[in-house]
Amino acid sequence: MRKIRTYKDVTHDTGSGLLEQVVDQQHRLADRLALVRSVVAVASGKGGVGKSAITANLAAALAGRGLAVGAVDADLNGPSLARMLGVSGARLADRASGVEPAESPSGVRVMSMEFLQQEEDAPLRWREPEMGRFIWQSTLETGVLREFLGDVEWGELDVLLVDVPPGTDKIARLLELVPELDQMLMVTTPSETSRFVVSKSVRMAREAAVGTVALVANMVGHTCPECGHVSELFMGDGVKRLEEESGVPVWAQIPFDPRFGAATDSGTPLVITDPDAPSCHAILALADRVEEQIGIRGRDAVEEVGS
Ligand SMILES: Nc1ncnc2c1ncn2[C@@H]1O[C@H](COP(=O)(O)OP(=O)(O)OP(=O)(O)O)[C@@H](O)[C@H]1O
Ligand SMILES: [Mg+2]
Repeated sequence: MRKIRTYKDVTHDTGSGLLEQVVDQQHRLADRLALVRSVVAVASGKGGVGKSAITANLAAALAGRGLAVGAVDADLNGPSLARMLGVSGARLADRASGVEPAESPSGVRVMSMEFLQQEEDAPLRWREPEMGRFIWQSTLETGVLREFLGDVEWGELDVLLVDVPPGTDKIARLLELVPELDQMLMVTTPSETSRFVVSKSVRMAREAAVGTVALVANMVGHTCPECGHVSELFMGDGVKRLEEESGVPVWAQIPFDPRFGAATDSGTPLVITDPDAPSCHAILALADRVEEQIGIRGRDAVEEVGS
C-alpha cells in the first residue's frame, strides 16, 4: 500500500521549513493562551442543538459581569456566532502583534470566519491543490483554527469561549490544539438521538485532559405564554440517561423559548435585554458554574504563568 507522509515523518530539513512552521505556530499559540485564564469549549458533536446561541448568551452574560471575554467561532463552514453577538460584517484591524478581534455591543471580543468573507451567501472554499482535496481540507481547517486562537490579539482574557461545530472530529481537532482545555460544555437536547451522538463526545472529552466536562440540556420543555402549560418537545429522557451513564453533571436546563431564539438570531442575546426570562435564568445559572470553575483553575494557571 502507498504510504502518505505526514509532517511527523519529515525528520530532516526538506527546504520547505514545514517542521519549523508547525513548531513556531504552536509556540505562538501557547504564548497567546498563556494570557487567557480559561478556555471553555461549547461543543456537542450533534448539530443544531443550540451551541452557538448558548455561546453567544453565555459570553454576553459573563462580559456583563465585568469579565474579559473572548469568543471564537470555530465553525468555519457555517459561522453564526458573530451574527448572534451583533458584530456581523465587522472589519478587522491587522496589527503587528496580531489581528484585532471585533468587539460586540455586549463587550465580547469575537473572531469568526464571517469577517473574512465578502459576501453573505458565499460558501467557504479552500484554495488547496486540485489533487487530494480531502487530505488538505482538514489540515487547512485546523490551520485556520490555530490562527484564530494564536494569531488574534486577544490580550488578557478571563475566559475564551470556543463555539465548536458539530462532529466529534471537530472536538478532536480542538483538543489537539488546546489539549488542556479548562472546561467543555456539552450541549444536548432530551432526544434519544442527541443522547446517542453526544455520548461519544462526552467520552472523547473525558478521555482527554479536559479540566471539567459538564452537560447543558437545551430545549427542555416549552411554557405556553398564553396559558402557562409546559409541554415537552422531546419524549425521551436522554439528558437523565446521559448524566447517569457518563457521570457528567448537568449544569443547566434551558427551556425552549422562541424569544431566546429570535433575539439571539437578530444579534441581541436575550440575556442582555430580558435577563428575567426563564431561558436566561438558566443561562445565568450556567454562567455562575463557569465562573466558579474559572475561579478555581484559572487563578492557579495565571499564578504559574506569572511566577
Ligand atoms: N432554547 C432555545 N429556545 C429557542 N430557540 C433556540 C434555543 N436554543 C437555540 N435556539 C435556536 O435554534 C437555532 C439553532 O441553534 P444554534 O444555531 O445555536 O445551534 P447549533 O448547535 O450551534 O447548530 P450547528 O450545529 O449548526 O452549529 C437557532 O436559531 C437558535 O437561535
Ligand atoms: Mg452553531
